[in-house]
Amino acid sequence: MGRARSIRVHAGDAELAVAVRGEGAPLLFVHGFPFDHTMWRHQLGSLDGWRRIAPDLRGVRVSTPPRGGYTMARYADDLAAVLDALVIERATVCGQSLGGYIVFELLRRHPDRVGALVLVATKPDADTPEGQGARDQVVAQTEREGPAAVADRMLPRLLGRTTRATRPGVAEAVRQMAGGWSVPGMVGAQRAMRARPDSTETLRGLRLPALVIGGEEDEIAPPPVVRAMGALILNAQVEIVPGAGHVVPLERPADTTRALAAFLGRLAAGGALPRRGAPG
Ligand code: MLT
Repeated sequence: MGRARSIRVHAGDAELAVAVRGEGAPLLFVHGFPFDHTMWRHQLGSLDGWRRIAPDLRGVRVSTPPRGGYTMARYADDLAAVLDALVIERATVCGQSLGGYIVFELLRRHPDRVGALVLVATKPDADTPEGQGARDQVVAQTEREGPAAVADRMLPRLLGRTTRATRPGVAEAVRQMAGGWSVPGMVGAQRAMRARPDSTETLRGLRLPALVIGGEEDEIAPPPVVRAMGALILNAQVEIVPGAGHVVPLERPADTTRALAAFLGRLAAGGALPRRGAPG
């Protein structure tokens, strides 16, 4: 197993910390809100034979552009900058929730950088008006009370009932990750998500090897939404993980890694990855 190292990548007006581990075909992990790259700790520590790459998003821990430095386009360009810095043309890209929204934007802006796709607990829809109202409340709370208060408010919805009842350490890990977000980073992420477009047409008929993972107890991206998203992508494989809420890779780490390893094993056995194109 390769040792973990952390590099710094300059991406426009931000500097990103990027964990890099192992050797092999590149596998890029994109975390959600309000997490950081350590939400992938089990996957980063496993999956030998792949070069695992996991940045912290702009505004999380290392460097914080001022307000206004946060859009889906900037987040997607940051991923392209990470690949550039590591001299990687194309990667298998795995995004959870907000990370998934960013991957949709990467598919629109930099389609040639994505060789295969793993979508975890995410959804293609734009925010509803109610959802946008909730974002405004989170923004106001972040500015008033700071990131820790936001984590406490979100936790009951983030974790599945099984995790809440049996694994208190996961809530603590989420609190710690949220504590690494800056106020502009948190506000910026909420505004970027509020403004994101519907990605249904980006995924419809997509011809990339794809794995879609959902949590059985997820209220944010519930199983029917995850299944419907998987049905948009040609031949996507859908896995619903029992006993998990929204933070599947942390709540059911071994199950998530197992599903990923099986998918990656099939990719490796299949040789050259198919290109993106219109349905035939
Ligand atoms: C996330 O987990 O990234 C967020 O909860 C997604 C969202 O708020 O839509």
